[in-house]
Amino acid sequence: MQTLGIIGTNWITGQFVDAARESGSFTLTAVYSRTMEKADQFKTKYHAPEATSYTDLAGFMNASEFETVYIASPNSLHFEQAKQAILAGKNVIVEKPAFSNPTEMAAMQTLLKQHPDQFLFEAARHIHEANFKIVQQAINELPTINGATLSYMKYSSRYDAVLAGEEPNIFSPHFSGGALQDLGVYVVYDAVSWFGVPDSVDYQAELLPTGVDGKGVATLRYPTFNVTLIFGKTVDSYLTSEIYGGQTTIVIDNAGTIGKVERYSEGGQKIASLGEPSLANPMIAEAENFATMIANHDTKRYHELLQLSESVNQVLYQLRQSAGIIFAAD
Ligand SMILES: NC(=O)c1ccc[n+]([C@@H]2O[C@H](COP(=O)([O-])OP(=O)(O)OC[C@H]3O[C@@H](n4cnc5c(N)ncnc54)[C@H](OP(=O)(O)O)[C@@H]3O)[C@@H](O)[C@H]2O)c1
Repeated sequence: MQTLGIIGTNWITGQFVDAARESGSFTLTAVYSRTMEKADQFKTKYHAPEATSYTDLAGFMNASEFETVYIASPNSLHFEQAKQAILAGKNVIVEKPAFSNPTEMAAMQTLLKQHPDQFLFEAARHIHEANFKIVQQAINELPTINGATLSYMKYSSRYDAVLAGEEPNIFSPHFSGGALQDLGVYVVYDAVSWFGVPDSVDYQAELLPTGVDGKGVATLRYPTFNVTLIFGKTVDSYLTSEIYGGQTTIVIDNAGTIGKVERYSEGGQKIASLGEPSLANPMIAEAENFATMIANHDTKRYHELLQLSESVNQVLYQLRQSAGIIFAAD
């Protein structure tokens, strides 16, 4: 197993550490937190008492106990932390959205070219899962593509704080938050992976008093069809997602967490169930893939993912610009 250090001690880091252990990919050997108390609590909760705790970021980065760092801090901190990690000789797995804007992404690409033996992955978990590839295959078999409607909306427990007049990180422009960055990123990943980079984009956002988007609808325009994206963090949605191709429609239960994939054809006469049962922990596939790419030094797949990450970053930025959403990081 490869060695892992973590930044951020919220539940998502715990889920990744569990996935890494369950898949035999990474073992937790170092924990960075702003407080020793939280670092130690995390180690106890996630069964890694032997890992070393750090509260000094530079000391953590230069520690010899780990080769790869998983970064799950607020979005605006990703760039500086990933930069420090690359400069310290580590591989990086950074949570989505990897970076706040194309300026940060370009600076990271330059740095990575200077460190060709290290890897930086954006943890867009769903693109590594079996059902994502099943949808891709079903799209490849469509006679034509006539567009898609992709949806992912989930009420955030932290929206209560916004309603109370507060500004939690995930809804703050100071931390590069908002619905597009947090959940929209999944459907942007879907669209760019399945249909490529759009010619133009437009985002009708519903803005919150904090200055970021709570929910909204985006249009990605391709030469012969449009893709509609629906995403938000202020409501729960039970809409399915659909990809249209002539008289065939691929129906997905949730475009951000793909559990069910069905193909309707011949005017609904013929319905085929294509999806596989999802694993209980949705981060297992990505943990396995990242560890395998590092172990095999699979630079081909790595560079494809990095290119995809760059394209998604560009589309997110264009969407944000079209809605007038500005981050402190800009
Ligand atoms: N892949 C997924 O399914 C998924 C799900 C949820 C979140 N995420 C991603 O994970 C990342 C973290 O999200 P989150 O909701 O967990 O964020 P968060 O609660 O705001 O912060 C995560 C951690 O970062 C540290 N932190 C918080 N505020 C900070 C500050 N002002 N300065 C420095 N460190 C700070 C805290 O760790 P310490 O107190 O220990 O320092 C905290 O536990 C985001 O990029 C998000 O998009 C991914």
